[in-house]
Amino acid sequence: MKIVLGPASTALAEKIAELTGYEKVPVGSKTFPDGESYIRLEGNVQNEHVAIVQTTCAPQDSRLMQLAFMAAAAKRNKARKVTAIVPYLAYARQDKIFLQGEGISIETVAHMLKAAGVDALITVNIHAENALSNFPFPAITLSAISLLAEYFVQKGCKEAFALAPDKGAMYIAEQAQSVLQGEAGHLEKQRDRYTGQTSQTGKGLNVKGKSVIIFDDIISTGGTIVGAAKILREQGAAHVYAACVHGLLIGDAEKRILDAGVEEIVSTDSVPSHASKVSLAPLIAKALKAQKSG
Ligand code: R5P
Repeated sequence: MKIVLGPASTALAEKIAELTGYEKVPVGSKTFPDGESYIRLEGNVQNEHVAIVQTTCAPQDSRLMQLAFMAAAAKRNKARKVTAIVPYLAYARQDKIFLQGEGISIETVAHMLKAAGVDALITVNIHAENALSNFPFPAITLSAISLLAEYFVQKGCKEAFALAPDKGAMYIAEQAQSVLQGEAGHLEKQRDRYTGQTSQTGKGLNVKGKSVIIFDDIISTGGTIVGAAKILREQGAAHVYAACVHGLLIGDAEKRILDAGVEEIVSTDSVPSHASKVSLAPLIAKALKAQKSG
């Protein structure tokens, strides 16, 4: 197997190559003056199973095109198999029809990648795992929650309360709880499908005087975490932290979260930022090794 260093995830791909010992394939890339993407594989992929590491956070569309171009270039240069390693998979939140007239964006993305040459896909904490069942190739999602929880154990937060900001994320809080060995619970979140506005409530939580870590798959505008932090403060939590797999941290999200009393924001390097304190490299390297021996 060879690791293709996608331009959106070069540092992560380098770490994966180091941990697996697999050869690296550098990628030349540029953006033309009109905004079009160019890529070139700078290594031999003939008869190889290649793992292309490329996240698809903003600018999503050009990163998806780069991924498609790398897959197509690999196949054109006679790669035997192409596995896309997409730590953050864009469009995964549009995984069903919410309002009449919509499409299922994530399925369209998967079909585009298949057409380009992708044979299999590995992602991390996709928003809803069932989206993968309609992909036109084998696709799996890994979970980085234990790694995030381990970060907090190392920081001295063992037995902290793991809070999910909505019921759908409770499985995330439970995964964290199994590492932290404390309690877990969730808030209730409602979303207006037309305006996108959300509201949260928290009943029956016992967080008074406790350290609480809010775990979510994504932090985008920060609104969910700000709302959760407000409830936790009202209910007397002593310390509030926020952890997510994909720290999109749009605009002033980080400032808003810290202003809401959150002491630290921790994310993985699926979306590189200075909150990326936990690397996905060991998780992905292990999955690639298992795939090779499996
Ligand atoms: C949605 O259900 C996701 O799990 C996240 O809670 C959401 O994407 C976070 O978005 P924001 O940071 O804009 O509130």
